[in-house]
Amino acid sequence: MSKLSTESYKGVRDFYPEDKFIQNYIFGVMRSTVESFGYSEYDASILEPAELYKAKSGEEIVNEQTYTFTDRGEREVTLRPEMTPTVARMVAARSRELTFPLRWYSIPNLFRYEKPQRGRLREHWQLNVDLFGATGVSADAEVITVAYMVMKNLGAKDDDFTIKLNSRKLLQDLFAIFALDAEQSQRVTKLLDKKEKLDPSDFTTGITEVIGDKAEKFVALVSSNENLLEQLTDKDSAKDLINLIEILSAQGVKNVEFVPSITRGFDYYTGMVFEVFDTNPENSRALFGGGRYDDLLDMFGVDKVPTVGFGMGDVTATDFLAVRNLLPTYHSPAELYICVLKSDYVSNATALAHALRAEHVNVSIDLSGKKVGDQIKIADKQKIPYILVIGEDEIKTDMYTLKNLETGVEEKLDIAGIVAKLKK
Ligand code: HAM
Repeated sequence: MSKLSTESYKGVRDFYPEDKFIQNYIFGVMRSTVESFGYSEYDASILEPAELYKAKSGEEIVNEQTYTFTDRGEREVTLRPEMTPTVARMVAARSRELTFPLRWYSIPNLFRYEKPQRGRLREHWQLNVDLFGATGVSADAEVITVAYMVMKNLGAKDDDFTIKLNSRKLLQDLFAIFALDAEQSQRVTKLLDKKEKLDPSDFTTGITEVIGDKAEKFVALVSSNENLLEQLTDKDSAKDLINLIEILSAQGVKNVEFVPSITRGFDYYTGMVFEVFDTNPENSRALFGGGRYDDLLDMFGVDKVPTVGFGMGDVTATDFLAVRNLLPTYHSPAELYICVLKSDYVSNATALAHALRAEHVNVSIDLSGKKVGDQIKIADKQKIPYILVIGEDEIKTDMYTLKNLETGVEEKLDIAGIVAKLKK
C-alpha cells in the first residue's frame, strides 16, 4: 500500500501545540480587549447556503474565492469566506427582539480559495467586531478605537502600524464632481483599490481609459489627500471624515491617515472604510479591514440596521508579532512533572497528582519507565518548569524536593507548600 502524505491541504495550517499556544495568546488578547468595550461573543457554523454570498459580497470573492459544493440533498453550500453575511443574517433573524446598539464579536475560521502567500492563506481566523444599530461618527470612532486597542494590547507601538481611512460617501461625492456614471465609478473604485500596488503610470493609464482627459486632474486629487479634502470641504462626507480623525486623535488614536485609495473590496460598505497596515515592509498586507455598512441587512427584508465593524486576521497578526519578537514563549500547561524512581511508584505519583490537581496545580506524571535522568529530560523538552521525584523517602515522609528546571533551585516542601508555590 502506498503511504499517505503527512502534509496538510494546500494553504491551510496544522496547529502543533506551540502554534496553538501562539494563536490562543492572540485570541486571548483579542477577547479581553473587545470584552473591555462590552462586546459579546457569538458563533455560527462554517457552512452557509451559497446564496448568502451572491447578493452582496463583491464579485472577486464570490466568483473566484469561495469553496462551494452541492450537498447530498442538492443544496448549494459554501464554506464561509467571511463572517459579515452570517452575522447580518443572525441579527436580521432576531432584529425585533435584540436591543440596539448591539456590540458583538466572534473569532471564526474562514475559507478563501486564494493563492497561498505570505499573509494570505486558504483558511484563516478573523476577529470580527461589529456595532449594530448605531449611526454617526462616534460609532465609527469606537470601532476604530477597538482595533487600535487590540494592537496596543498585543504590544504594538504607535509607529508600528497605520490606520488608513477613507469614505465610500466621499468617493461618491468625488465621482459626482467628475460626472462619472455607475459603471465608470465602479471601474475607478477597483483601480483605486489597486493603486498602491500599481506603477503610477499604469494607474494613470487605467484611469484615462475610463474617464478620458479628466484623468490628470482626478489622479492629482486622489494622490494628495489634502487637496482632495479641500476640494470637498462643503460636503458632509468630508466633514464627517475630518470630525472622525479629530475624535480619534482626542481619544489618543493618532496614527490615522486619510488615504483616498482605500476602497475595500466588498460591495456592501456605504460609509467610512479603513484598513490597518504594518509599517514593517516585510508585512505588506493589511492587518485589519472594515467599515460602515448601513444597508446589508436590507436583503433579509428587515428594517434598516446601520452597522460598522471590522475583521482582523490571525495570519497577518502573527507575522506582525513575529518580526518584532512580540510572540510569547511556549510553555507546557503542566507546571509540574512527577518523576518516579521505580515504576512501582506510579500509583503513589498518581495519588499525589490527584491531590495537587484538586488544588488547581496542573500536573503530568512520568509513564516512560525510563531512568530518572531521562524522565527529567522529558520534562525539560516539554517545557514543564518544575519536577519532583518520588522514591521511598518521599512516600514515607510525604515531603518532596521541588526543582525549578530553569534555575536549578531546589526546595523541600509538603503538599501544601507545593500548592502555595505552583497554584495558578
Ligand atoms: P477583509 O478585508 O476581507 O474583510 O478581511 C479582514 C482581514 O482578514 C484582512 O485585513 C486580513 O488580515 C485577514 N484576511 C483576509 N483574507 C485572508 C486570507 N486569505 N489569509 C489570511 N488573512 C486574511 C472582511 O472579511 C470583512 N467581512 C470584515 C468586516 C467585518 N467588515 C465589517 N465587519
